[in-house]
Amino acid sequence: MAKVEEIRNSKEEEEEAKQPLKTTVKKEALGWMEWLRGWFYLVFEMLFQRISASHLHNPMPLPPINDLTCIVTGSTSGIGREIARQLAESGAHVVMAVRNTKNAQELIQKWQEDWSGKGLPLNIEVMELDLLSLDSVARFAEAWNARLAPLHVLINNAGIFSIGEPQKFSKDGYEEHMQVNHLAPAMLSILLLPSLIRGSPSRIINVNSTMHYVGFVDPEDMNVVSGKRKYTSVVGYGGSKLAQIMFSSVLHKRLPAEAGISVVCVTPGIVLTNVARDLPQFLQVGYRLIPYFIFNAEEGSRSTLFAATDPQISEYCEMLKADDWPVCAYISHDCRPTNASEEAHNVETSYKVWEKTLDLVGLPLDSVERLIEGEEIKCRYGNSQE
Ligand SMILES: NC(=O)c1ccc[n+]([C@@H]2O[C@H](COP(=O)([O-])OP(=O)(O)OC[C@H]3O[C@@H](n4cnc5c(N)ncnc54)[C@H](OP(=O)(O)O)[C@@H]3O)[C@@H](O)[C@H]2O)c1
Repeated sequence: MAKVEEIRNSKEEEEEAKQPLKTTVKKEALGWMEWLRGWFYLVFEMLFQRISASHLHNPMPLPPINDLTCIVTGSTSGIGREIARQLAESGAHVVMAVRNTKNAQELIQKWQEDWSGKGLPLNIEVMELDLLSLDSVARFAEAWNARLAPLHVLINNAGIFSIGEPQKFSKDGYEEHMQVNHLAPAMLSILLLPSLIRGSPSRIINVNSTMHYVGFVDPEDMNVVSGKRKYTSVVGYGGSKLAQIMFSSVLHKRLPAEAGISVVCVTPGIVLTNVARDLPQFLQVGYRLIPYFIFNAEEGSRSTLFAATDPQISEYCEMLKADDWPVCAYISHDCRPTNASEEAHNVETSYKVWEKTLDLVGLPLDSVERLIEGEEIKCRYGNSQE
């Protein structure tokens, strides 16, 4: 496991680059150099992720977590499925927040059978959550908060990358990548703050992607409908992942140290999962033929499990806050702290993304402050948040 010293050193190396990154210039798109650098990072990650992560064990050994309650979204497939299973096998109470509850129940049954004789039965349950419906997000949070139970770790893992698909919109009217990968998890994080405060010290972990390096967000055109930019699935996916980092960075700053909630984004690496389900058949074959370079789901779950359980993460987050670092903690596929893209350091855009996100999900701008004060807030979605 990385030590705070290592984290600190790596951060010091970034210090020199800090000032230029803080500049806030209004842009219409990523510059060519940034865009090329982003693709370079992606290719580099794919070719060398196995080498840079060679110091990690697989599966990742976890510290004792019997007293933790963790919600994992999208835990019926891929990385999320591994995260949920490993957390449960290490003793945590795991809530699988999924849209396909039948699949999740079948998985639990299988995991219990495989685990039988190795320890106490797994403490794992299923709750319905469809991120394509903001009503569903509000209902989920309402049901969870009503338990008045502590929540220690929220893992926003569920995501889509509809490669090559035409632009699609949710019934709430938002571009699907933006809704599933950013708006809905952001809304869930805010609405669950009362439970996270109850579970403090607690964490919000967002499973992000190196694709955010090629992403760009125009807060006035989050759905990419203005015609200023041509929509492609890469534009939709990369933009949604960048928006998630920007929103998380502002959330990280607005949460006072006393709240005891750390906000972390992680990249899992390039992982063989169902995320490529929309690739044309011939490309899917190619994707499965390069297993040497691509992580399996167990390897891809390590950075998230690290961020969720390493005891030094909270200290690292507080250090970033104290130093007024513009971006929240960002953990790489090899469980080392790393730097998010240059665009993610655009503080002005991050605040606009924050405001626009709260507006789109129907939450007041001062939601965080009011929830921390123990007040209730109104949400446009769900039954009642009065
Ligand atoms: N695989 C990679 O190379 C890679 C790289 C970087 C980042 N990531 C990120 O890692 C995360 C996990 O992806 P994965 O690779 O494990 O993909 P995956 O195998 O496709 O799993 C995605 C999970 O998200 C769930 N999901 C999708 N839409 C949902 C919705 N509307 N409501 C609730 N749940 C929904 C899926 O549920 P169903 O089973 O019901 O479809 C599934 O459980 C994503 O955030 C992805 O962006 C992946």
